[in-house]
Amino acid sequence: MKNLDWAKLPFGYVPTDYNVRCYYRDGKWGEIEVCSDEYIKMHMAATCLHYGQEAFEGLKAYRCPDGKVRVFRMDENAARLQSTCRGILMPEVSTELFEEMVTKVVRLNQDYIPTYESGATLYIRPLLVGMSAQVGVHPASEYLFMIFVTPVGPYFKGGFATNPYVIIREYDRSAPLGTGIYKVGGNYAASLRANKMAHDLGYACEFYLDAKEKKYMDECGAANFFGIKNNTYVTPKSTSILPSITNKSLMQLAEDMGMTVERRQIPEEELATFEEAGACGTAAVISPISKIDDLEGHKSYVFSEDGKPGPISTKLYNKLRNIQYGIEPDVHGWTKVV
Ligand code: PLP
Ligand code: COI
Repeated sequence: MKNLDWAKLPFGYVPTDYNVRCYYRDGKWGEIEVCSDEYIKMHMAATCLHYGQEAFEGLKAYRCPDGKVRVFRMDENAARLQSTCRGILMPEVSTELFEEMVTKVVRLNQDYIPTYESGATLYIRPLLVGMSAQVGVHPASEYLFMIFVTPVGPYFKGGFATNPYVIIREYDRSAPLGTGIYKVGGNYAASLRANKMAHDLGYACEFYLDAKEKKYMDECGAANFFGIKNNTYVTPKSTSILPSITNKSLMQLAEDMGMTVERRQIPEEELATFEEAGACGTAAVISPISKIDDLEGHKSYVFSEDGKPGPISTKLYNKLRNIQYGIEPDVHGWTKVV
């Protein structure tokens, strides 16, 4: 194991020893290459640089108390990447190739998987880019799929602690029939101004309303949203949000816990009725929300008076983490020991 101060890691980039790469040329994927270079050599007219032909994924490996290393639902990340590939005309990476490369890169960098006690994890970042030259707006003929890993700490301040969010009406992250459902870099470029605005105003994260009507809750930063009331888990149904694997897992766990699950449009005013609210995602895990302010609408929706996460969010968080760390039985077969 490397001698890093695991417990103090931010959510940032720490170099590791290896990344893995695979090129798509002449209509097929080649051999997996192990690489220790952090740089990519590419053509200056590569489609990823000009026309945003770029997709990425995010998942984690956990060093568990039983000494094993587990990866959470990587088949789901493979499936979402395949959906993104169809969305922006890139060749699909098979689930088999995706899983083989994830397993390989985690094993090669096992010295960088943080200790269980630190609460930090190994973030796995697959990315797929159009490599060949195009000047007209067309898909590339050659692609690079690569995966690097980096040890990370909590995405939001304090980890499992409440944070304030703010609705930003000035900018949309994605259009109703745009690329919001895909994990492409362009969506994140579109979010930078709103995110900065939220931070400058002292909030942890920006919240987007649906772009068309500005009536319904969409998602927050790089995470999905859920609200809890009357033993019901409510999460937005929208054509412009990323289908979160964490959210999908929480919906299942909520159901397992005897809760009702509703995936539907959530009008902003309904926020006033939630007993708890949270953001969820691989990086965020569950990040409980203390309040959502709508500055223009002169409204503030408060979910935690005492600043503490609510009981159901806490229960869901513990359940999810215990499955990810191999502490509780993985009845849905979500984890893989690598
Ligand atoms: N929404 C956006 C925009 C994201 O970037 C992410 C992160 O991947 C999520 C939601 C959460 O998705 P997941 O739970 O699959 O990590
Ligand atoms: C993730 O949760 O994996 C994310 O995508 C967050 C990221 C954009 C930093």
